Amino acid sequence: MESANTLTSTVKARIEAAGSDTELRAIEREYLEKGGVVAGLLAAVPSLPGPERPAAGRAANQLKLEIAAALGAARERLASADLDQERSSAGFDASLPAQHSPRGSLHPIVQLTRELSDLFHSMGFLVLDGPEVETDEHNFEALNIPRDHPARDMQDTFRCDPEGKLVLRTHTSAVQVRAMRQLKPPMRAIVPGKVFRQETTDASHEHTFHQMEGIVIDKDITVAHLISTMKVLLRGVFGREIEVRLRPGYFPFVEPGFELDARCPFCKSGCSVCKQSTWIELLPCGMIHPNVLRSSGIDPETWGGFAFGLGLSRLVMLRFQIDDVRHLLGGDLRFLEQFS
Ligand code: DAH
Repeated sequence: MESANTLTSTVKARIEAAGSDTELRAIEREYLEKGGVVAGLLAAVPSLPGPERPAAGRAANQLKLEIAAALGAARERLASADLDQERSSAGFDASLPAQHSPRGSLHPIVQLTRELSDLFHSMGFLVLDGPEVETDEHNFEALNIPRDHPARDMQDTFRCDPEGKLVLRTHTSAVQVRAMRQLKPPMRAIVPGKVFRQETTDASHEHTFHQMEGIVIDKDITVAHLISTMKVLLRGVFGREIEVRLRPGYFPFVEPGFELDARCPFCKSGCSVCKQSTWIELLPCGMIHPNVLRSSGIDPETWGGFAFGLGLSRLVMLRFQIDDVRHLLGGDLRFLEQFS
């Protein structure tokens, strides 16, 4: 035991004084490896008187651990001295401020789209996509808006060809038609995406904006299903129960059609967001028109459903109290950085 104790301090001093890895390696060989000092001590343990053996064994093992730890620390010290040496010869200055590369963040529309996609996905909805250049048939005709019907004037359309067969889709409802033709009922889907209108832009009108269409087709679907789904949506967006009401609204592809209003989430008795009315016009919706089902090969005697057209841009504006829709796609980093 005695020799183990004195040895500890001698070896440690040698290790601390060592100036190279070769020296450390030599000490390691001398003490720790086969035939080395520690092995010698351990081998001597059985020749000691019985009662002394356990303590002597422990002391030898302790010596071994301490030498190993001291060697490890010394190696680190040498390595970091090497690195310092290397850095100062390369002109490296660790005290200079770091260069940060700018970090991007998700656009608020993308954030909301992802949240709503998760929410609807959890209720069994598919999340669908469709082309932004659409046929007149998908965008209008199959949605019960025939050519020359006055309802065409509800949306100012960008036409893509002289014959008027292709349009920039004016609403994500066009994908309803694709969904109905490709999937069999029962079905539930949402379609987030960009839509285009030939608008004169101002604080509340933009030629390109975002919508999210929703569609449910099943047996025995009623307005109650529509209302409860919209309440789940509002709970998801505003984090609490929000009262809703329906007013009649006209859209050729639903019958009856509604405007769904939500109780203003920002006030109790009227504010600038709800124009002092405590209600906010949230989204148009309704029960899918039999003509629309029929035009996509679905029998309205067996199947029924509801649809809604959520203005994603509008909802983002509501949520973050953005007063000008043109900020959304303006690409100004000072605006976008607020949502990181
Ligand atoms: N597509 C309509 C628009 O953009 C919105 C809409 C209204 C969608 C009623 C619907 C609906 O699904 O049921 O003006």
